[in-house]
Amino acid sequence: MKSGTFLVLFFLLPVATEAGFWDFFNVFSKDDDLLSFNSSESNMLSDLEKDLRKSLFGQHIAVDTVLKAVSWFMKDPDPPKPLVLSFHGPTGVGKNYISKIIARNIYKVGLKSNHVHIFISDYHFPHKEELQLRQWIHGNVSNFPRSMFIFDEMDRMHPRLIDTLKPFLDNNDNVDGVSFNKAIFIFLSQTGGHIITNVTLDFWRKGNNREELQLQSEEMETQIFEYLFNDENSMYGLWHSSLINQHLIDHYIPFLPLEVKHVHQCVMAEMLHLNMTQDYDLADRVVRDMPVFPEEEKVFAVKGCRCVRQKLVLYLSLD
Ligand SMILES: Nc1ncnc2c1ncn2[C@@H]1O[C@H](COP(=O)(O)OP(=O)(O)OP(=O)(O)O)[C@@H](O)[C@H]1O
Ligand SMILES: [Mg+2]
Repeated sequence: MKSGTFLVLFFLLPVATEAGFWDFFNVFSKDDDLLSFNSSESNMLSDLEKDLRKSLFGQHIAVDTVLKAVSWFMKDPDPPKPLVLSFHGPTGVGKNYISKIIARNIYKVGLKSNHVHIFISDYHFPHKEELQLRQWIHGNVSNFPRSMFIFDEMDRMHPRLIDTLKPFLDNNDNVDGVSFNKAIFIFLSQTGGHIITNVTLDFWRKGNNREELQLQSEEMETQIFEYLFNDENSMYGLWHSSLINQHLIDHYIPFLPLEVKHVHQCVMAEMLHLNMTQDYDLADRVVRDMPVFPEEEKVFAVKGCRCVRQKLVLYLSLD
């Protein structure tokens, strides 16, 4: 083969396979960018715990569940199955953000790690190529067992593609010679968000303290599970796949609608990111202009902390 032809093939082959250009090259990078999870002093807060408690506002259920699930999993040298987490909740409440926090506490370069793979249903594999998805996951985990896969907008993913994940999520010792038991799979969707919002609002109206709301309060986890299992209104999403009835998902984690005070915390955090001096009153003004619900009580922010930075800069001068 002429060297020119070889070069063209060398560059085109990985593009043609949905494994993607960069994943192809990652096969050669065996650098271990894992951070240590074995804190020697058990009374000390782990970095993950500190980061979650400092960075994620108003999500005590997600913080507690993710902290325990991820820490135990990462400390286990021989887990019996991969960790599979499904995050649910309305828009802008931290589902993507917590995935970023998890990633930066497992891998030295966080989401930029070669071992973190983000899958967006409409963008990757839009033509439902099950075989390529299978090869993509298989290739990445055989290259690096402690890989992390984040599936965003799971509600828009075709059930046939979701079913492709099944063998990887189960208690299989190996699939075609590769063990998937050290991998982490995270699914993100707004599915069940209205159930979570209603439960949280009811709880608030009864005068309860938000932090006392638990996964099993008003059977929230069961309600989410049943909704996913029974909803037939949509063609797509988890509910038509067998991941649910085969119990391959370890935790369904609710993200609560954010209260106005949490959005205020987000604005204050954004000021720090923009290297500004934190200004409590300015944050107040920014938050006051954001849409809230319900109409009379005005408890929750319609868009959570989404667009906080964009709103904040409108209040700043250009110099
Ligand atoms: N609970 C939170 N605590 C701190 N910051 C938050 C929180 N929720 C959201 N944010 C901020 O808002 C941004 C948008 O949130 P994020 O992308 O996590 O929303 P989401 O829950 O994934 O929403 P969607 O369902 O619309 O994708 C985050 O990058 C983060 O800066
Ligand atoms: Mg999101």
